[in-house]
Amino acid sequence: MNISDKGPKQKKIVVIKLSGSIFNINTTAKSLKQYAQLFLEIQKKIQPVIVAGGGLIARDYINLARSLGSDESTLDVMGIEISRLNAMLLSAALGDSVYPVIPSNLEEISVACQSGKIIVSGGLHPGQSTNATAALICEKIKANGFVNATDVDGIYDSDPNKNPKAKLFKEIAIERCLNLLNTGSTMAGTYDLMDIVALKVIERSKIPTWVTKSDPKIIKDLIMKNSKIGTKITV
Ligand code: UTP
Repeated sequence: MNISDKGPKQKKIVVIKLSGSIFNINTTAKSLKQYAQLFLEIQKKIQPVIVAGGGLIARDYINLARSLGSDESTLDVMGIEISRLNAMLLSAALGDSVYPVIPSNLEEISVACQSGKIIVSGGLHPGQSTNATAALICEKIKANGFVNATDVDGIYDSDPNKNPKAKLFKEIAIERCLNLLNTGSTMAGTYDLMDIVALKVIERSKIPTWVTKSDPKIIKDLIMKNSKIGTKITV
């Protein structure tokens, strides 16, 4: 990952969306500490802004409440609240280095950035995914890069779970991602990896974006060692 410089005085900012899959009932203190260690290391050179996904716990709550008759916007709020709880959990592992408030909107995130601390957010607005939220945060704070750390290695040309010959894209143009999404192609869980709102925001603000596996070592190599891992979305 080669992120452009913001200027001599400002630290570069990278927004990292952490897959909701790392927060579940089997999550251990050890695994969260490994992520915390990663962000503390990154922070020496780059300001990390983390967005925690909702994961299975959010999905379970949403499905249960849907079966009880909740409307969709209420379900979205439930998803947001669970992602905020996940953000709090990660914050607990970051000690004094974390901004002490889980932001509620984009303006609060802009203000939080001035602190130089590690910022951990959950979802913000009903009707979108945490991927879209992360892209909107990139736009608002003029982030130098967006890393979407997911539960797969990157974007494939077909579903690797169904097609053993599926090919991982090293690079893919944003227009092609949008086309594949519009034509309803089954590009390996692309809807989950990047929904239309996230892609549109990446496109309009030309946000350099990487999709990669959510693993502390991989994220570190991508950000700190400029390793070519996962898929780069070219803009
Ligand atoms: P996520 O987008 O995090 O779902 O939010 P996820 O499936 O866990 O994502 P991955 O696996 O990390 O990619 C869970 C739900 O919370 C609501 C939506 O209903 C979403 O499906 N949500 C989340 C919002 O409405 N707004 C947000 O900003 C974030």
